[in-house]
Amino acid sequence: MLTLASSLCGLSLLASTCVGQNVNTTGSSSATTANVGKVNGSLVAPKGADGLTVGVLGDYGWTGWIPSPDHFCLEVLPMLEQDGFTIPKEVLNDCDPGDKMYISNATALQADTAQYIGQICAMKNCSAFISVGDNFYDSGIDFTTGGILRFQEAWVDMYSQGVFEYAPWYQCLGNHDVVKGQNGVDFQTKVLPYYDDRWNFGTQGLPYYTYDLTGSDWTATFVVVDSDCFLSSYQKNTSVYQNSYTEACYQNKSIQVDFLNQTFASSNATWKFLQLHHPYISSSTNQTDLAPLISIVEAHNGIVLNGHDHCLAHYNYNNTDFILTGAAGYPQAGDCNNGTALGPFALFLAANPLTAANGFVTMDISSQFVNVEYYVRDMQFDNGDLYSVHYDLAPSYTFQITKKAT
Ligand SMILES: *[C@@H]1O[C@H](CO)[C@@H](O)[C@H](O)[C@H]1NC(C)=O
Ligand SMILES: *[C@@H]1O[C@H](CO)[C@@H](O)[C@H](O)[C@H]1NC(C)=O
Ligand SMILES: *[C@@H]1O[C@H](CO)[C@@H](O)[C@H](O)[C@H]1NC(C)=O
Ligand SMILES: *[C@@H]1O[C@H](CO)[C@@H](O)[C@H](O)[C@H]1NC(C)=O
Ligand SMILES: *[C@@H]1O[C@H](CO)[C@@H](O)[C@H](O)[C@H]1NC(C)=O
Ligand SMILES: *[C@@H]1O[C@H](CO)[C@@H](O)[C@H](O)[C@H]1NC(C)=O
Ligand SMILES: *[C@@H]1O[C@H](CO)[C@@H](O)[C@H](O)[C@H]1NC(C)=O
Ligand SMILES: *[C@@H]1O[C@H](CO)[C@@H](O)[C@H](O)[C@H]1NC(C)=O
Ligand SMILES: *[C@@H]1O[C@H](CO)[C@@H](O)[C@H](O)[C@H]1NC(C)=O
Ligand SMILES: *[C@@H]1O[C@H](CO)[C@@H](O)[C@H](O)[C@H]1NC(C)=O
Ligand SMILES: *[C@@H]1O[C@H](CO)[C@@H](O)[C@H](O)[C@H]1NC(C)=O
Repeated sequence: MLTLASSLCGLSLLASTCVGQNVNTTGSSSATTANVGKVNGSLVAPKGADGLTVGVLGDYGWTGWIPSPDHFCLEVLPMLEQDGFTIPKEVLNDCDPGDKMYISNATALQADTAQYIGQICAMKNCSAFISVGDNFYDSGIDFTTGGILRFQEAWVDMYSQGVFEYAPWYQCLGNHDVVKGQNGVDFQTKVLPYYDDRWNFGTQGLPYYTYDLTGSDWTATFVVVDSDCFLSSYQKNTSVYQNSYTEACYQNKSIQVDFLNQTFASSNATWKFLQLHHPYISSSTNQTDLAPLISIVEAHNGIVLNGHDHCLAHYNYNNTDFILTGAAGYPQAGDCNNGTALGPFALFLAANPLTAANGFVTMDISSQFVNVEYYVRDMQFDNGDLYSVHYDLAPSYTFQITKKAT
């Protein structure tokens, strides 16, 4: 939805009057926002509660993506490649055969799951949303009219009702978000906070940042990184994710590692979270390139929030909890190994041999514990049920974290 501040900005996204109007409207919209602060334009979660509930979700942004036609992808593209044309990576990616096949179901599933998340979060009083990336399929969005239209359709209008109206989203980049390179990254990290004050990408306009959720007698420090910068596979020139942005940030990985290390070291928070897109431990592909980040999390008794695999899971590996929440769009059973645990690290998988479930995770944070609840959607539709859950307004799985950060 367009809040007061962002609607005043209209389309003059970068006009300085828009910046000013967006900075200080705390308390002016309605009683619902009275408690909610703003930092540099973006809404932030309310401070000082004994317990605060947040929704954690990822891999959702399908709506409005229009794949390239089969004639281009199957007939024209191979000829162009054969004749030595350089094909833009986003054009190649928009011919991805799997994603082309999923798009119509994926769009419906994103909308149905958005409504489900809104329903659960109204019940549970979620104060903020935490994203683990893949905000816009298939090739991200950038500062073009097309990008603006997709943002409006797939995010602003999609997450606009009820509890979504005033809750900040702490954002994160996924692989689909970096296909367009620096321009796409800048659009999400620097431009969109002006467009909608619920879109929070920190205060510096960078793809890595930190924020605290602060309760009456507890604090949780979150560090967000762009895990796309860590994967050596994305450096191959055959990868659709290889571009000058991923090349430069891969060279510069130590910036993000040091940022995590220093932020965790200088925080005395009760709980410490690493929020990123890719999985270090997985039922489909372990991204071991993330090890330098994970060892810092381990050293601080931290918790990892990730997506990328299109399903919900709880992993505990080497004494660290990994919360996989990649199921707010198009769920895929194979990403959770069709529901079969690959080892004792896999404590919960919301998948079966036919399908994986849509859903998300809530975290109730307080000084004593973080209560983690997995909400798995009963995926009923006109002609059947893609994933049956007896009563989906209750969590299908919960666990509690009591081991505090160091
Ligand atoms: C924001 O607005 C409030 C109320 O109008 C005012 O007291 C405060 O000084 C303003 N803050 C800034 C940074 O302008
Ligand atoms: C929702 O949570 C916030 C933050 O803890 C709190 O300030 C607010 O009173 C709660 N609202 C309801 C209806 O419980
Ligand atoms: C799309 O959903 C229908 C059920 O509505 C299902 O039968 C079909 O297999 C799905 N297709 C894909 C590609 O997921
Ligand atoms: C607001 O943004 C500016 C420039 O990006 C930064 O220097 C400043 O520290 C930010 N303010 C806060 C309160 O984070
Ligand atoms: C962290 O340290 C600050 C100041 O050193 C203190 O005010 C705060 O209570 C501490 N927070 C926690 C959760 O220990
Ligand atoms: C990728 O790199 C290899 C060797 O470095 C080169 O032979 C090949 O032409 C490159 N391919 C593209 C699409 O740039
Ligand atoms: C590495 O990061 C620093 C700090 O953000 C930046 O100033 C520098 O330009 C980056 N270098 C590359 C090659 O991206
Ligand atoms: C983290 O910082 C500490 C110093 O505070 C240093 O000893 C350690 O090597 C750093 N770890 C990493 C992985 O950079
Ligand atoms: C990921 O690593 C764990 C622990 O080594 C292993 O059990 C699991 O099979 C790996 N996952 C995949 C998909 O290979
Ligand atoms: C497991 O954790 C220990 C200590 O926290 C660390 O030294 C070790 O490298 C970790 N092993 C793996 C495979 O992550
Ligand atoms: C999952 O099940 C499907 C059939 O439903 C099968 O084709 C696929 O190979 C299975 N994948 C894994 C990882 O077991």
